[in-house]
Amino acid sequence: MKEVKIESKLFVFESLAELPSDVYDLMINAVTARNRAYAPYSNFQVGAALLLDNGEVITGNNQENASYPSGLCAERTAIYYAGSQYPNAKVVSMAITATAKTSPTNKPIPPCGACRQAMVEYELKQDLPIAIYFMGEMGAIAKSESVSNLLPFVFDKSVLF
Ligand code: THU
Repeated sequence: MKEVKIESKLFVFESLAELPSDVYDLMINAVTARNRAYAPYSNFQVGAALLLDNGEVITGNNQENASYPSGLCAERTAIYYAGSQYPNAKVVSMAITATAKTSPTNKPIPPCGACRQAMVEYELKQDLPIAIYFMGEMGAIAKSESVSNLLPFVFDKSVLF
């Protein structure tokens, strides 16, 4: 038996003020999207903004449903829209912000596992890492240089054929 160790690396910015200006702008887009989230059941609002290599910015937020599992996370709302509208564009970076309405958090909130799986599909398809920036309501922002870095032991198409 041997031990296999996998490491993930994050960079942490102390606040919005420390972000490079293009990332700051992307995060502000995510905040605007977060404020438009439809989350009447969880009251947990999430916004995502994607920068494409054609310069387009695509945003999305969580969309909930009375039939709970029919709702969709912000990250997937945004990345599926990008994939449907710009099938040949590459996603360069993604900013995410999330907070509970009743108890705002200032610690970075990472995308859920299902969203990481959806996001990594596009990273592998485009053969270019997607930089992920994630934040709570405000406060520190964590950066991952790729989705793969957030999703060790990825399930990808190589196992299907
Ligand atoms: N949610 C997201 O939008 N993204 C995530 O990565 C985690 C969770 C949403 C789904 C649901 O509307 C609410 O947050 C509470 O789970």
